[in-house]
Amino acid sequence: MEGIAIMTSGGDAAGMNPAVKFCVEYAKKRGLKPFLIRNGLRGLIDDDIKVAERSDVSGILHRGGTVLRSSRSKRFFEDKYRLQAYENLQKHGINKLIVIGGDGSFTALNRFYNEYKVPFAGIPATIDNDIPGTDYCLGVDTALNVIRESIDSIRDTALSFSRAFVIETMGRNCGYLAMTSALSSGAEICIAPELDHDLDSIGERLKKDVEGGRDYIMAVVAEGSNMAGELTHWIKDNLNMDARLTVLGHVQRGGSPTVRDRVMAYNYAVQAVESLLAGNTNQIMTFRDGSYGTAPIDIINTKCIVDPNIVELASHLAV
Ligand code: F6P
Repeated sequence: MEGIAIMTSGGDAAGMNPAVKFCVEYAKKRGLKPFLIRNGLRGLIDDDIKVAERSDVSGILHRGGTVLRSSRSKRFFEDKYRLQAYENLQKHGINKLIVIGGDGSFTALNRFYNEYKVPFAGIPATIDNDIPGTDYCLGVDTALNVIRESIDSIRDTALSFSRAFVIETMGRNCGYLAMTSALSSGAEICIAPELDHDLDSIGERLKKDVEGGRDYIMAVVAEGSNMAGELTHWIKDNLNMDARLTVLGHVQRGGSPTVRDRVMAYNYAVQAVESLLAGNTNQIMTFRDGSYGTAPIDIINTKCIVDPNIVELASHLAV
C-alpha cells in the first residue's frame, strides 16, 4: 500500500482539523495508507510521524486550531535537515504528502519536491486569504464570523458611550478580512492596503453625519496598512469624538470551524488525494469562480488579487 502523509504547517486556521480528518478518511477509501506528521515541518525533520488511526481523527471535526499542531521551521531551509526529512519518509514508505497551510509552507515543500521528488498537494489554509490562484483559504469564514461577533459587541459599548472605535484585523498585507468585515458590520470607515484612503474626505463625510446626530463611529483597519493608531488619534482630533482602539489579534485564528470551512475542507481533501493519484506532483488546490481545481505551484509567486467587488464596495468607506 502506498503511504501518504498529512501535515499542517504555518499559522493555524480553523478548518485544518476537518481537512486532516477528511484527507485521512478519503485516502483510505482510495486504497492509500495514511500517516500523520505532527508539528509541521519540525515533525517531518524529527520523525514525528505515525500511521493514522481512526481514533486520531474522530471527534476533531468541530475543533479549532490543528490537533496535529504546527510550526514555522527555519531548520527546513538547511540541506541536512531536508535530507533527514526525506530519509524519514522513505523509512515509513511514504511517497506522497498533503500539506495544509499557506504560501510559506508550499514554498518549502516545493523546494523539497525539486530535490527529492516527493509529490505534494497543498491545501490553502490561512485566515489571510492571500494565496494567489484561489478565492478561498480554509479558516477565512470562521475568522470573519469571529470578527463579526467582536464588532457587534464593540458596537454595543460604542453606542452606549457615544464613542468611536477603531478595530484592527489581521491579514498580514492582505485587506480581505478588514474589507469584508467593514462591509458586513456596517462600519463607517475602512482602511486596507488595497484601498486609496483620504482622511480629508472621510472627515468631510463624517463631520456632516456627526453634526446631524451621529454619536458613534466604527472603523475597521487592516493590520497591513499600519494605520490603526494614527486613525484613532485622527478621529479624536478631527471629529471631536472620544475614540478607542481594539486590536483583535489572535482571537481571529481560533474558534470552531464554520459550516463553510468544514464543507470547503471536505472538497479540498478529496481534490488533494485525487490530484496526487492522478500523478500531479506539486500543485495547490484551488476554488475559483465557484469550481474546484488545481494550480501549478508557481502561481504562489504571482500577486494575490482580492475580489474586485469587495474592493469596490469597501472603497466607499475609505473616502
Ligand atoms: O498568517 C496568519 C496570521 O495570523 C496573520 O494574519 C498575522 O499577521 C500573523 O499570522 C501572526 O503571526 P504569529 O501567529 O506568528 O504572531
